[in-house]
Amino acid sequence: MNVLGIETTCDETAAAIVAPGEDGRGVIRSNEVLSQIAEHAAYGGVVPEIAARAHVEVLDRLIARALDRAGMALKDVDGIAVAAGPGLIGGVLVGLVTAKTLALVARKPLLAVNHLEAHALTARLTDGLAFPYLLLLASGGHTQLVAVKGVGDYVRLGGTIDDAIGEAFDKVAKLLGLAYPGGPEVERMAEAGDPERFALPRPMLGRRDANFSLSGLKTALRIEAERTAPLAERDVADLCAGFQAAVVDVVVDRVRVALRTFSGVAGHPTALVAAGGVSANGAIRRALAALAGEAGLAFVAPPLALCGDNGAMIAWAGIERLRLGMTDDITAPARARWPFADVPPAEAPRAEATAG
Ligand code: KG4
Ligand code: ZN
Repeated sequence: MNVLGIETTCDETAAAIVAPGEDGRGVIRSNEVLSQIAEHAAYGGVVPEIAARAHVEVLDRLIARALDRAGMALKDVDGIAVAAGPGLIGGVLVGLVTAKTLALVARKPLLAVNHLEAHALTARLTDGLAFPYLLLLASGGHTQLVAVKGVGDYVRLGGTIDDAIGEAFDKVAKLLGLAYPGGPEVERMAEAGDPERFALPRPMLGRRDANFSLSGLKTALRIEAERTAPLAERDVADLCAGFQAAVVDVVVDRVRVALRTFSGVAGHPTALVAAGGVSANGAIRRALAALAGEAGLAFVAPPLALCGDNGAMIAWAGIERLRLGMTDDITAPARARWPFADVPPAEAPRAEATAG
Protein backbone atom coordinates (compact mmCIF):
# COMPACT_ATOMS: atom_id res chain seq x y z
CA MET A 1 0.00 0.00 0.00
CA ASN A 2 1.49 3.33 -1.10
CA VAL A 3 -0.25 6.62 -0.39
CA LEU A 4 0.50 10.03 -1.84
CA GLY A 5 0.19 12.85 0.71
CA ILE A 6 -0.33 16.50 -0.23
CA GLU A 7 0.04 19.44 2.19
CA THR A 8 -0.76 23.08 1.36
CA THR A 9 -2.51 24.47 4.44
CA CYS A 10 0.06 27.11 5.38
CA ASP A 11 3.43 28.19 4.00
CA GLU A 12 4.89 24.83 3.06
CA THR A 13 4.06 23.05 -0.18
CA ALA A 14 4.69 19.36 0.37
CA ALA A 15 4.17 15.98 -1.27
CA ALA A 16 5.29 12.56 -0.11
CA ILE A 17 4.84 8.85 -0.69
CA VAL A 18 4.52 6.64 2.38
CA ALA A 19 3.83 2.93 2.80
CA PRO A 20 3.06 0.92 5.94
CA GLY A 21 6.13 -0.98 7.16
CA GLU A 22 6.19 -4.45 8.65
CA ASP A 23 6.97 -3.24 12.17
CA GLY A 24 3.90 -0.98 12.45
CA ARG A 25 5.82 2.13 11.45
CA GLY A 26 5.60 3.86 8.11
CA VAL A 27 8.20 3.73 5.36
CA ILE A 28 8.77 7.15 3.81
CA ARG A 29 9.59 6.54 0.15
CA SER A 30 9.85 10.25 -0.64
CA ASN A 31 9.15 13.48 1.21
CA GLU A 32 9.40 16.72 -0.75
CA VAL A 33 8.92 20.02 1.08
CA LEU A 34 9.20 23.47 -0.47
CA SER A 35 9.12 26.28 2.07
CA GLN A 36 7.72 29.67 1.07
CA ILE A 37 9.41 31.40 3.99
CA ALA A 38 11.50 33.65 1.74
CA GLU A 39 8.36 34.91 -0.01
CA HIS A 40 6.69 35.91 3.27
CA ALA A 41 9.75 37.06 5.23
CA ALA A 42 9.45 40.71 4.21
CA TYR A 43 5.95 40.84 5.74
CA GLY A 44 6.92 39.26 9.08
CA GLY A 45 4.31 36.55 8.69
CA VAL A 46 2.40 34.44 6.19
CA VAL A 47 0.37 36.43 3.62
CA PRO A 48 -2.56 34.18 2.58
CA GLU A 49 -2.79 35.38 -1.05
CA ILE A 50 0.94 34.97 -1.61
CA ALA A 51 0.78 31.50 -0.04
CA ALA A 52 -2.09 30.29 -2.25
CA ARG A 53 -0.39 31.54 -5.41
CA ALA A 54 2.93 29.98 -4.47
CA HIS A 55 1.24 26.60 -3.87
CA VAL A 56 -0.37 26.71 -7.34
CA GLU A 57 2.95 27.48 -8.96
CA VAL A 58 4.87 24.51 -7.58
CA LEU A 59 2.46 21.78 -6.47
CA ASP A 60 2.21 19.78 -9.71
CA ARG A 61 5.98 19.64 -10.13
CA LEU A 62 6.45 18.73 -6.49
CA ILE A 63 4.02 15.82 -6.75
CA ALA A 64 5.81 14.62 -9.89
CA ARG A 65 9.11 14.80 -8.00
CA ALA A 66 7.73 12.88 -4.99
CA LEU A 67 6.50 10.11 -7.32
CA ASP A 68 9.78 10.14 -9.19
CA ARG A 69 11.93 9.88 -6.04
CA ALA A 70 9.78 6.96 -4.88
CA GLY A 71 10.26 5.31 -8.29
CA MET A 72 6.54 5.33 -9.02
CA ALA A 73 3.86 6.62 -11.33
CA LEU A 74 0.46 7.86 -10.23
CA LYS A 75 -1.11 4.57 -11.28
CA ASP A 76 1.02 2.76 -8.67
CA VAL A 77 -0.36 4.57 -5.61
CA ASP A 78 -3.27 3.12 -3.63
CA GLY A 79 -4.71 6.36 -2.34
CA ILE A 80 -4.40 10.13 -2.49
CA ALA A 81 -4.41 11.91 0.85
CA VAL A 82 -4.64 15.67 1.19
CA ALA A 83 -4.88 18.07 4.10
CA ALA A 84 -8.39 19.48 3.66
CA GLY A 85 -7.97 21.87 6.60
CA PRO A 86 -7.71 23.57 8.97
CA GLY A 87 -5.61 26.27 7.37
CA LEU A 88 -5.51 29.22 5.00
CA ILE A 89 -8.45 28.53 2.73
CA GLY A 90 -6.76 29.52 -0.55
CA GLY A 91 -3.93 27.09 0.02
CA VAL A 92 -6.22 24.33 1.26
CA LEU A 93 -8.28 24.66 -1.94
CA VAL A 94 -5.19 24.36 -4.12
CA GLY A 95 -4.24 21.06 -2.47
CA LEU A 96 -7.75 19.67 -2.29
CA VAL A 97 -8.70 20.45 -5.90
CA THR A 98 -5.41 18.96 -7.07
CA ALA A 99 -5.97 15.80 -5.01
CA LYS A 100 -9.56 15.41 -6.20
CA THR A 101 -8.48 15.80 -9.81
CA LEU A 102 -5.72 13.19 -9.47
CA ALA A 103 -8.07 10.81 -7.64
CA LEU A 104 -10.71 11.13 -10.37
CA VAL A 105 -8.30 10.80 -13.27
CA ALA A 106 -6.35 7.87 -11.80
CA ARG A 107 -9.45 6.31 -10.14
CA LYS A 108 -7.88 6.23 -6.68
CA PRO A 109 -9.52 6.64 -3.27
CA LEU A 110 -9.42 10.18 -1.88
CA LEU A 111 -8.55 10.75 1.77
CA ALA A 112 -9.42 14.22 3.09
CA VAL A 113 -7.19 14.45 6.13
CA ASN A 114 -7.33 16.88 9.04
CA HIS A 115 -3.91 18.58 9.24
CA LEU A 116 -3.93 18.44 13.05
CA GLU A 117 -4.84 14.76 13.04
CA ALA A 118 -1.85 14.18 10.78
CA HIS A 119 0.45 15.87 13.33
CA ALA A 120 -1.22 13.77 16.03
CA LEU A 121 -0.55 10.45 14.25
CA THR A 122 3.07 11.20 13.27
CA ALA A 123 4.33 9.30 16.35
CA ARG A 124 2.83 6.14 14.84
CA LEU A 125 4.53 6.79 11.51
CA THR A 126 7.93 7.24 13.17
CA ASP A 127 7.68 4.93 16.20
CA GLY A 128 4.74 2.60 15.62
CA LEU A 129 3.30 3.86 18.89
CA ALA A 130 0.18 2.14 20.25
CA PHE A 131 -2.92 4.02 21.43
CA PRO A 132 -3.72 5.74 23.75
CA TYR A 133 -1.13 8.50 24.21
CA LEU A 134 -1.04 12.06 25.47
CA LEU A 135 -0.27 14.55 22.74
CA LEU A 136 1.01 18.09 23.06
CA LEU A 137 0.28 19.61 19.67
CA ALA A 138 1.95 23.00 19.40
CA SER A 139 2.38 24.93 16.18
CA GLY A 140 1.98 28.44 14.85
CA GLY A 141 -1.79 28.21 14.85
CA HIS A 142 -2.62 25.59 17.48
CA THR A 143 -1.78 24.60 21.03
CA GLN A 144 -3.70 21.66 22.42
CA LEU A 145 -3.35 18.77 24.82
CA VAL A 146 -5.17 15.78 23.42
CA ALA A 147 -5.83 12.20 24.49
CA VAL A 148 -5.22 10.23 21.28
CA LYS A 149 -7.34 7.09 21.76
CA GLY A 150 -7.57 5.81 18.21
CA VAL A 151 -7.86 6.95 14.60
CA GLY A 152 -10.63 9.54 14.63
CA ASP A 153 -10.96 9.22 18.42
CA TYR A 154 -9.44 12.29 20.05
CA VAL A 155 -10.36 14.00 23.30
CA ARG A 156 -9.18 17.50 23.97
CA LEU A 157 -7.90 17.95 27.53
CA GLY A 158 -6.85 21.58 27.21
CA GLY A 159 -5.73 24.29 24.85
CA THR A 160 -4.73 27.90 24.60
CA ILE A 161 -7.26 30.59 25.42
CA ASP A 162 -5.31 33.18 23.40
CA ASP A 163 -2.04 32.79 21.44
CA ALA A 164 -0.63 29.50 20.20
CA ILE A 165 2.88 28.77 21.51
CA GLY A 166 4.44 29.09 18.05
CA GLU A 167 2.54 32.33 17.50
CA ALA A 168 3.96 33.68 20.78
CA PHE A 169 7.50 32.73 19.66
CA ASP A 170 6.85 34.44 16.32
CA LYS A 171 5.49 37.63 17.92
CA VAL A 172 8.33 37.83 20.43
CA ALA A 173 10.84 37.39 17.60
CA LYS A 174 9.21 40.18 15.60
CA LEU A 175 9.21 42.47 18.64
CA LEU A 176 12.93 41.83 19.15
CA GLY A 177 13.80 42.37 15.49
CA LEU A 178 14.49 38.70 14.75
CA ALA A 179 13.58 36.92 11.52
CA TYR A 180 10.41 34.96 10.71
CA PRO A 181 9.60 32.22 11.65
CA GLY A 182 10.56 33.26 15.15
CA GLY A 183 10.74 29.94 17.00
CA PRO A 184 14.13 28.79 15.73
CA GLU A 185 15.54 32.36 16.02
CA VAL A 186 14.41 32.79 19.62
CA GLU A 187 15.79 29.35 20.48
CA ARG A 188 19.15 30.20 18.88
CA MET A 189 19.42 33.55 20.71
CA ALA A 190 18.31 31.97 24.01
CA GLU A 191 21.31 29.65 23.98
CA ALA A 192 23.64 32.51 24.88
CA GLY A 193 21.18 34.29 27.17
CA ASP A 194 20.60 34.49 30.91
CA PRO A 195 17.07 33.21 31.62
CA GLU A 196 17.02 34.79 35.09
CA ARG A 197 17.80 38.41 34.22
CA PHE A 198 14.23 39.41 33.43
CA ALA A 199 11.46 38.33 35.78
CA LEU A 200 8.71 37.09 33.46
CA PRO A 201 5.37 35.62 34.52
CA ARG A 202 4.32 31.96 34.17
CA PRO A 203 0.64 32.34 33.18
CA MET A 204 -1.80 29.59 34.29
CA LEU A 205 0.81 27.86 36.47
CA GLY A 206 -0.90 25.69 39.06
CA ARG A 207 -4.34 25.89 37.48
CA ARG A 208 -6.40 22.70 37.74
CA ASP A 209 -7.44 22.70 34.08
CA ALA A 210 -4.88 22.03 31.35
CA ASN A 211 -5.31 25.29 29.46
CA PHE A 212 -2.65 27.73 28.29
CA SER A 213 -2.48 31.50 28.07
CA LEU A 214 0.50 33.13 26.38
CA SER A 215 -0.54 36.71 25.69
CA GLY A 216 0.30 38.04 29.18
CA LEU A 217 3.79 36.60 28.96
CA LYS A 218 4.25 38.23 25.57
CA THR A 219 3.07 41.58 26.95
CA ALA A 220 5.37 41.29 29.99
CA LEU A 221 8.27 40.66 27.63
CA ARG A 222 7.34 43.68 25.52
CA ILE A 223 7.33 45.91 28.61
CA GLU A 224 10.78 44.62 29.65
CA ALA A 225 12.07 45.14 26.11
CA GLU A 226 10.75 48.72 25.99
CA ARG A 227 12.24 49.47 29.41
CA THR A 228 15.65 48.16 28.31
CA ALA A 229 15.71 49.70 24.79
CA PRO A 230 17.85 50.33 22.83
CA LEU A 231 18.51 46.60 22.86
CA ALA A 232 22.03 45.26 22.54
CA GLU A 233 22.56 41.68 21.36
CA ARG A 234 23.08 40.62 25.00
CA ASP A 235 19.67 42.08 25.95
CA VAL A 236 17.93 40.24 23.11
CA ALA A 237 19.62 36.99 24.14
CA ASP A 238 18.55 37.43 27.77
CA LEU A 239 14.98 38.30 26.78
CA CYS A 240 14.81 35.22 24.52
CA ALA A 241 16.23 32.99 27.26
CA GLY A 242 13.77 34.40 29.80
CA PHE A 243 10.84 33.93 27.45
CA GLN A 244 11.79 30.39 26.51
CA ALA A 245 12.34 29.41 30.15
CA ALA A 246 8.89 30.77 31.04
CA VAL A 247 7.30 28.81 28.18
CA VAL A 248 9.08 25.64 29.28
CA ASP A 249 7.81 26.04 32.87
CA VAL A 250 4.26 26.63 31.64
CA VAL A 251 4.36 23.68 29.23
CA VAL A 252 5.66 21.29 31.89
CA ASP A 253 3.01 22.39 34.38
CA ARG A 254 0.16 22.16 31.86
CA VAL A 255 1.26 18.75 30.57
CA ARG A 256 1.53 17.51 34.16
CA VAL A 257 -2.12 18.49 34.74
CA ALA A 258 -3.17 16.82 31.47
CA LEU A 259 -1.37 13.62 32.49
CA ARG A 260 -3.39 13.61 35.70
CA THR A 261 -6.70 14.01 33.86
CA PHE A 262 -5.76 11.55 31.10
CA SER A 263 -6.62 8.35 32.96
CA GLY A 264 -10.20 9.45 33.59
CA VAL A 265 -10.67 9.94 29.85
CA ALA A 266 -8.53 7.30 28.18
CA GLY A 267 -6.88 4.95 30.69
CA HIS A 268 -3.13 4.57 30.97
CA PRO A 269 -1.10 6.35 28.26
CA THR A 270 1.61 4.49 26.33
CA ALA A 271 3.66 7.67 25.95
CA LEU A 272 3.91 11.44 26.04
CA VAL A 273 4.10 12.74 22.49
CA ALA A 274 5.04 16.17 21.16
CA ALA A 275 4.12 17.25 17.64
CA GLY A 276 3.83 20.38 15.50
CA GLY A 277 6.46 22.97 14.65
CA VAL A 278 7.14 23.95 18.27
CA SER A 279 8.15 20.38 19.09
CA ALA A 280 11.40 21.17 17.26
CA ASN A 281 12.42 23.30 20.27
CA GLY A 282 15.26 21.59 22.13
CA ALA A 283 14.51 23.12 25.54
CA ILE A 284 10.86 22.06 25.35
CA ARG A 285 11.83 18.57 24.17
CA ARG A 286 14.32 18.12 27.01
CA ALA A 287 11.81 19.29 29.62
CA LEU A 288 9.10 17.00 28.27
CA ALA A 289 11.48 14.05 28.14
CA ALA A 290 12.34 14.63 31.81
CA LEU A 291 8.66 14.93 32.74
CA ALA A 292 7.81 11.72 30.88
CA GLY A 293 10.70 9.96 32.65
CA GLU A 294 9.32 11.09 36.02
CA ALA A 295 5.92 9.67 35.08
CA GLY A 296 7.44 6.40 33.85
CA LEU A 297 6.37 7.09 30.28
CA ALA A 298 8.22 7.02 27.00
CA PHE A 299 8.67 10.39 25.32
CA VAL A 300 8.22 10.50 21.56
CA ALA A 301 8.84 13.53 19.37
CA PRO A 302 9.29 13.42 15.62
CA PRO A 303 12.69 13.91 14.01
CA LEU A 304 13.12 17.61 13.16
CA ALA A 305 12.19 17.09 9.51
CA LEU A 306 8.76 15.80 10.57
CA CYS A 307 8.04 18.44 13.25
CA GLY A 308 7.05 21.11 10.76
CA ASP A 309 4.45 20.71 8.03
CA ASN A 310 5.18 17.92 5.58
CA GLY A 311 3.49 15.55 3.16
CA ALA A 312 4.63 12.35 4.89
CA MET A 313 2.36 12.96 7.87
CA ILE A 314 -0.60 13.56 5.54
CA ALA A 315 0.16 10.37 3.62
CA TRP A 316 0.45 8.44 6.90
CA ALA A 317 -2.88 9.77 8.22
CA GLY A 318 -4.29 8.71 4.83
CA ILE A 319 -2.92 5.17 5.34
CA GLU A 320 -4.45 4.99 8.81
CA ARG A 321 -7.84 6.01 7.40
CA LEU A 322 -7.62 3.91 4.22
CA ARG A 323 -6.91 0.78 6.31
CA LEU A 324 -10.16 1.45 8.18
CA GLY A 325 -12.12 2.15 5.00
CA MET A 326 -12.58 5.81 5.95
CA THR A 327 -12.38 7.25 2.44
CA ASP A 328 -13.89 10.49 1.13
CA ASP A 329 -15.58 11.49 -2.08
CA ILE A 330 -15.47 14.40 -4.47
CA THR A 331 -17.75 16.50 -2.24
CA ALA A 332 -15.20 16.67 0.62
CA PRO A 333 -15.09 20.35 1.66
CA ALA A 334 -12.09 22.59 2.21
CA ARG A 335 -12.20 23.88 5.79
CA ALA A 336 -10.51 26.94 7.23
CA ARG A 337 -11.54 25.79 10.71
CA TRP A 338 -11.80 22.11 11.57
CA PRO A 339 -11.43 21.09 15.22
CA PHE A 340 -10.19 17.51 15.34
CA ALA A 341 -10.64 16.70 19.01
CA ASP A 342 -13.84 16.62 21.04
CA VAL A 343 -14.07 18.06 24.51
CA PRO A 344 -14.28 15.29 27.11
CA PRO A 345 -17.52 13.93 28.51
CA ALA A 346 -18.94 15.71 31.55
CA GLU A 347 -17.88 13.03 34.04
CA ALA A 348 -14.19 13.47 33.20
CA PRO A 349 -12.33 14.75 36.26
CA ARG A 350 -11.36 18.14 34.97
CA ALA A 351 -12.43 21.76 34.88
CA GLU A 352 -14.34 23.38 32.01
CA ALA A 353 -12.85 23.27 28.51
CA THR A 354 -12.14 26.49 26.67
CA ALA A 355 -12.24 26.73 22.91
CA GLY A 356 -9.22 28.34 21.29
O1 KG4 B 1 3.53 23.00 12.47
P1 KG4 B 1 4.16 24.18 11.83
O2 KG4 B 1 5.32 23.97 10.91
O3 KG4 B 1 3.12 25.03 11.03
C1 KG4 B 1 1.84 25.27 11.51
O4 KG4 B 1 0.95 24.44 11.24
O5 KG4 B 1 1.72 26.30 12.23
O6 KG4 B 1 4.61 25.17 13.03
C2 KG4 B 1 5.24 26.40 12.78
C3 KG4 B 1 5.46 27.11 14.11
C4 KG4 B 1 5.96 28.55 13.98
O7 KG4 B 1 5.21 29.38 14.85
C5 KG4 B 1 7.41 28.45 14.43
O8 KG4 B 1 7.92 29.64 14.99
C6 KG4 B 1 7.34 27.35 15.45
O9 KG4 B 1 6.45 26.41 14.90
N1 KG4 B 1 8.67 26.75 15.65
C7 KG4 B 1 9.33 26.80 16.82
C8 KG4 B 1 10.60 26.18 16.57
N2 KG4 B 1 10.64 25.78 15.27
C9 KG4 B 1 9.44 26.14 14.72
N3 KG4 B 1 9.00 27.30 18.02
C10 KG4 B 1 9.91 27.20 19.01
N4 KG4 B 1 11.15 26.67 18.85
C11 KG4 B 1 11.53 26.15 17.66
N5 KG4 B 1 12.74 25.61 17.50
ZN1 ZN C 1 1.21 22.13 11.18
